[in-house]
Amino acid sequence: MEKIRSKIDTSSKEFQQNKSGYKKLLDQYYQHLKIVTVRDEQEPVKRHKSRGKLTARERIQKLVDKGSKFLELSTLAAIGIKDNEFPSAGIITGLGVVQGKDVVIIANDATVKGGTYIEYTIKKHLRAQEIALQNNLPCIYLVDSGGVFLPDQSEVFADRFHFGRFFYYQARMSALGIPQIAVVMGSCTAGGAYVPAMSDEVIMVKGQSTIFIGGPPLVKAATGEDVTAEELGGADMHTSKSGVADYLAENDDDALQICRDIFENIPRSTGQAVTKIKTIKPAYDANELYGVIHGDMRRVIDSREIIARIVDKSEFLEFKSRYGKTLITGFANIDGYQVGIIANNGILFSESALKGAHFIELCSTRNIPLIFLQNITGFMVGKLYEQGGLAKDGAKLIHAVANTNVPKITLIFGGSFGAGNYAMAGRGYDPNFLFMWPNAKISVMGGEQAANVLVTVKEEQLKKKGKQMPEEEVNALRKEIMDKYNYEGSCYFSTARIWDDGIIDPKNTREVLSQCLRVVHNRPFGETKFGVFRM
Ligand code: COA
Repeated sequence: MEKIRSKIDTSSKEFQQNKSGYKKLLDQYYQHLKIVTVRDEQEPVKRHKSRGKLTARERIQKLVDKGSKFLELSTLAAIGIKDNEFPSAGIITGLGVVQGKDVVIIANDATVKGGTYIEYTIKKHLRAQEIALQNNLPCIYLVDSGGVFLPDQSEVFADRFHFGRFFYYQARMSALGIPQIAVVMGSCTAGGAYVPAMSDEVIMVKGQSTIFIGGPPLVKAATGEDVTAEELGGADMHTSKSGVADYLAENDDDALQICRDIFENIPRSTGQAVTKIKTIKPAYDANELYGVIHGDMRRVIDSREIIARIVDKSEFLEFKSRYGKTLITGFANIDGYQVGIIANNGILFSESALKGAHFIELCSTRNIPLIFLQNITGFMVGKLYEQGGLAKDGAKLIHAVANTNVPKITLIFGGSFGAGNYAMAGRGYDPNFLFMWPNAKISVMGGEQAANVLVTVKEEQLKKKGKQMPEEEVNALRKEIMDKYNYEGSCYFSTARIWDDGIIDPKNTREVLSQCLRVVHNRPFGETKFGVFRM
């Protein structure tokens, strides 16, 4: 394969300006991360530790293999929501390695409102289970939760993807032979009791954990029975009388060690065969990515410059380089894993959509995972293109993206707007993972375009009534829409709502992709069957 020759002049004024602009974005990103991860001085954390308990992140660190890296997902979930009272949405999820096996870990953070679940805690928990399901990964639940956040009952209880979905997924995973282990390290109340009860094996910490469908106050109110929490659902009782739990642990450390011991006996899954070749770093420094990215959505960023700083030896076999040039397709290796890359290099046209569909067929036939690099304002509009059949060609790409059975990993490195988001494996297309860079933006269209559309609609309405919109009103409407789109289009707005699996520092992209690529091979890819491609 040929090495990509970068056209970036790292000594140029533009490169330096981009880099210093990006530094501000990174400072903001790391500041946000610090606020949600460094909380030792906060009262609930101090109280939690004074009870001899480890924090959720400390528990995870003790659970995973020494020297392995835990890839935390959606760390900034619920940022900017409910006055930031739910850091990380009160739950830590991610990919870890236990006894050499890839696992999904879901850990309640009891220092956030008693580990209770608001809408986004549920969404994050479900997303982690979906990752386990999609990639055939064992799931470990570190349970310490007061169940649903009761004031929000209408947002957490009754709908399809609310609290009850946890147990549905647990049953489905179990039927598929996916191991699930629950380590109960605190409260586990009401519906939450089914997290351990539906797991394969359950560990409980002595004197610290409880499992019950109804707690002592509820029992008293319902039946008049006086009972202590320990009698009703303590670890001693459940491991000796009810049989709801299987192992009694002395403390957090002991419980995590028992979980590790259990994993010695869990067989390694036979996933997709993979030949990982020797990994060789890219020829270009990942730190240069900061200077490659500029903030002007109207100017293309040559995605080859991104690829050059992610793939092994910066080598890339570009497929159809002379055709449909606004979509770059080609083969490369990332940390020794063979991948097919599809990257935006401008607006999508019929040719680029056809080229993308062709490339996805190739990768599906050869069992090569796909990496989508998104920076897309949408499909080309206008008479010429509509008459050329743009809609049916775009549809072919969307068919291919939706139906391919090879894993898809999406990274939004710029904008993600309109139907371009769909064609490039946006969240609706079930990519195995989706990440954003701190500069990324996502919305149905750009703020300026949306403002123009809505102003035009309003003006047309008034024209029909023989009226005209005063200029101040036009400007006010335009400003209102642009402000709204700016706010809602930010990657933080997206990550707060778990539209992605997290915001990552560009320089870590290769490492994150490598970890995900290892994990996606845990499931045999299976055969791809496409539907009807409209010709
Ligand atoms: N809904 C809403 N808020 C809850 C809650 C719930 N289910 N459970 C706890 N909280 C809140 C508390 O009001 C408190 O809020 P504050 O910090 O604003 O004062 C915070 O979470 C911590 O609760 P606290 O009781 O002080 O902490 P703790 O560590 O001593 O105990 C629990 C935590 C979860 C064991 C305990 O709060 C509890 O038993 N909650 C009720 C659980 C329940 O019955 N759930 C049923 C759900 S279906």
